[in-house]
Amino acid sequence: MLKKITDRVSYVGKIDWELRRFHGDEYSTHHGSSYNSYLVRGGKTALIDTVWAPFAGEFMENLACEGVLEKIDYVISNHAEPDHSGAMPLLMKARPELPVYCTANGVKTLKGMYHQDWNFQVVKTGDTLDLGEGLTLTFVEAPMLHWPDTMFSYLSGENILFSNDAFGQHLASETLYNDTVDQCELFQEALKYYANILTPFSKLVTKKINDVLALNLPLSLICPSHGVIWRKDLTSIVEAYLKWADDYQEDQAVVVYDTMWNATRRMAEAVAQGMREERPGMTVKCLSASKCDVNDLITEVFKSKAVVVGSPTFNKGILRSIAAVLEEMRGLAFKKKKGAAFGAYGWSGESVKMIEAGLAEAGFELAASGLKMLWNPDNGGLEQCREFGRSVAATLS
Ligand code: FEO
Repeated sequence: MLKKITDRVSYVGKIDWELRRFHGDEYSTHHGSSYNSYLVRGGKTALIDTVWAPFAGEFMENLACEGVLEKIDYVISNHAEPDHSGAMPLLMKARPELPVYCTANGVKTLKGMYHQDWNFQVVKTGDTLDLGEGLTLTFVEAPMLHWPDTMFSYLSGENILFSNDAFGQHLASETLYNDTVDQCELFQEALKYYANILTPFSKLVTKKINDVLALNLPLSLICPSHGVIWRKDLTSIVEAYLKWADDYQEDQAVVVYDTMWNATRRMAEAVAQGMREERPGMTVKCLSASKCDVNDLITEVFKSKAVVVGSPTFNKGILRSIAAVLEEMRGLAFKKKKGAAFGAYGWSGESVKMIEAGLAEAGFELAASGLKMLWNPDNGGLEQCREFGRSVAATLS
């Protein structure tokens, strides 16, 4: 079913209420998601992006039964990642002559994914496609937001920015618009998306948004490729992105730990207590790396000015859940955050040094020398942990 957005623009994507893991199993989607595809009908008809392959048949049936499949004149591939290009093979099998508008990197990616030599039309920033009846698409390359091939498409005549992943959220909703969903869920999912996917590209996010704002384009809608369309208070998400891209921090610290026999957990809780004692107004969260969803945990890291990481020593190393969190933090390249390490041990005690090395590699400034504790902390040991927490918190602005 086509869902009307304006008289000349329709939604033809797929709402995926069931999705709970995305990017394979890498990203949790507690609220499902959607693969947004849009049909623009002027004198000519353009299809902007498609859907993920499991829904390709449904997508094609929808286009066919609505009678638009044969009327499509152009395919716009803003981004070749399979969640948006997964229906391309079926679409292009049905309409092999269709021109596919994408960036030069889009051609490489689509060829690499599907091994087909479709009728590619390479576009660059500023190139336009006239759809007639006052509708024109203007393309804006947005490399590394978040793949090399990514681009935005702006539709003059309707004043719509098709922003692909940017401004998106993994949020399933039968209503299409930002003002029709729970605002806490919406911004939490948008923030989680930014924290887990866009953080490494923050400088490019700032530049691209400022470049687009400098064009002073009239803007009625931002149509991303996941989640709801921004139609009300568009500046709220644009300003949020500018804020998140600027080494975002709240007055928050997080203690991330894992434990075997609760010694490191008891240390973690005492460290958190000490941090709160030093800075009573600061939010301090204590999160188990093995029990928390890693993407939710990374979202809390994103919001924090300090991350204190604890693991017992295990086989001369650290527990795998902590290794995984350190690897996530390294890859996301957070900036201007402080870190510190702690952990219990029984004999060799390598974990604290290993965590400190991981934090340094991830770009964290060490706020204090690490604290390691033999066996299970007694009351004196717990006081040392509180003092450690106080000393870390005292370094925070
Ligand atoms: Fe939603 Fe980068 O794909």
